[in-house]
Amino acid sequence: MNIQPLGSLARTHTAGELTAADVDKDVVLLGWVHRVRDLGSLVFIDIRDRHGLTQVVARANDALVDEAKKLRSEFVVAVIGKVVARAADALNPRMKTGEIEVEAREIRLLNDAKVPPFPISSDEAPVAEEMRLKYRYLDLRRPRMQRNIALRHRATMEIRKYFDEDGFLEIETPMLTKSTPEGARDSLVPSRVHPGEFYALPQSPQIFKQILMISGMDRYFQIVKCFRDEDLRADRQPEFTQVDLEMSFATEDLVFNTIEPLMARLMALIGRSAPAPFRRLPYAEAIAKYGSDKPDLRAGMEIHDVSAAFADSSFSVFRSVVESGGAVRAFAVKGGARYSRKELDELTAQAKQLGATGLVWARNADGVVQSSALKAAGEETIGRALEMTGAGTGDLVLIAAGQPDSTSRVLGALRLSVAKTQNLLDPDRFEFLWVVDFPMFEWIEEEGRHEFMHHPFTAPLESDAHLLESDPGQARARAYDLVLNGSEIAGGSIRIHDQTLQKLIFKLLQISDEEAKLRFGFFTEALEYGTPPHGGIAIGLDRTVAILCGEPSIRDVIAFPKTAQAVDLMAGAPSPVSNKQLQELKLGPSS
Ligand code: AMO
Repeated sequence: MNIQPLGSLARTHTAGELTAADVDKDVVLLGWVHRVRDLGSLVFIDIRDRHGLTQVVARANDALVDEAKKLRSEFVVAVIGKVVARAADALNPRMKTGEIEVEAREIRLLNDAKVPPFPISSDEAPVAEEMRLKYRYLDLRRPRMQRNIALRHRATMEIRKYFDEDGFLEIETPMLTKSTPEGARDSLVPSRVHPGEFYALPQSPQIFKQILMISGMDRYFQIVKCFRDEDLRADRQPEFTQVDLEMSFATEDLVFNTIEPLMARLMALIGRSAPAPFRRLPYAEAIAKYGSDKPDLRAGMEIHDVSAAFADSSFSVFRSVVESGGAVRAFAVKGGARYSRKELDELTAQAKQLGATGLVWARNADGVVQSSALKAAGEETIGRALEMTGAGTGDLVLIAAGQPDSTSRVLGALRLSVAKTQNLLDPDRFEFLWVVDFPMFEWIEEEGRHEFMHHPFTAPLESDAHLLESDPGQARARAYDLVLNGSEIAGGSIRIHDQTLQKLIFKLLQISDEEAKLRFGFFTEALEYGTPPHGGIAIGLDRTVAILCGEPSIRDVIAFPKTAQAVDLMAGAPSPVSNKQLQELKLGPSS
């Protein structure tokens, strides 16, 4: 079969649209051979494109049938023919095109194809991710990726429409720029014109969007690539996409009231709702109750402080923790009283692995209080702890003690692990949560200094401003994260718009005046020219779309992602460059 030119042949219909209403029409379909079924005197060929599948039948004459027999999966063809109704016993109600087939008059081979290294026609065959990424162009042809990329497109279109309607301007900010710190390493690009000098790719457009507020742009948004050289995980890529926005005269309420209806519109794309207002939870409470700053509310099982039950009990281990300023905390697992000894031992081992000194379990089995600490603590104390966690008959309570936050973090991790094994993380439930009042700083023990928790442009809570110098570790920020089902999908803050305060923050971060001038001088100077109060947020587009698609990894919603080793397996990047290029950049061995 010879490859022929497309010539002036034009597609009349996609492979996903012909129905009984089109019977008798002359059509031209252009697409890939999905499957060939050779029945001897006739051949069925399913033609595939992004829109669907159409069954083509070759039976008009021997020559056509012979040609059709030579077709193989993934060949590219043009089919010229007529739409005919399928016989009653051949109808396929599961396909949009299932009422018809195209009776081919001519099949033109536009290109042949090597045998693909994995099946394209379905997602069922498990294929190693390395193979999928190396042959990404083939993986993208498969139904799952076609669905995901199309949904991503719908989401970005909806986002653009929403912000346009809400008075935002989409403004591009530079990719070749100066470092904007977001807590990761910069990706640097050497300058050829200025040897020895570098641009940084933006970790985010943070400084530029704030400058746009100084410029009077009022409301800015951008769907923008950001670059962060950090350790990769399922939800992190070295380049990823943010839906970035900034608003003049912003308050937390204004930002939240902008984002919540947008989320509702995105959820509507998958037929779901997002009832506003979303719950708001201060950071400290999120840590205490869920042991995480991004709690998955689907899991339930809130952590309770049961210190009071043990404060003057006979159980000296827990009592001494309380006496020395620690806490005893616990959560109840509904129906967990039936956990076997082995399962309880496994949970205890897990708790120890997470850093707990131990784990106590307790349960009320048909009115009888049982516990791994029953002897030491006594029935009354254990009974009180059961009561304080709201555990009833048939429930299990897991109890740990130690420094309050780390105890909650251990229990938080156990809580998630129990939720997974109990199938409590219903993929059809969507729980949005604003986490607010983050600390301004976190203490870096090894370096003996404070580091910003969000970024250095975040304003403190007005009520905590006086703590900045006296007790910076206690100062809370006007920073917020949006969490969806345990994933941080957005983060933002109300900014500092006063250069004196901005300079103080740099000082607290131990950024010297000289360094601040070098890195942010242009920005602190801009702050002096009439900066409106402002604030904003950035949504992680990849993470949000992954949740909409029901995908655990953002790699599955990015057309050309990198592996966990930061490699593009298809293009083979990163890769060495020629000495000539290095010399031009004054980076290489001189010739
Ligand atoms: P932040 O650093 O919280 O805020 O980033 C915003 C959101 O971007 C997503 N995200 C990532 N997604 C994939 N891979 C990564 N490596 C990655 N890093 C972050 C997350 C996160 O919530 N300039 C501020 C925003 C602001 O203050 O307005 C910023 O970048 O979903």
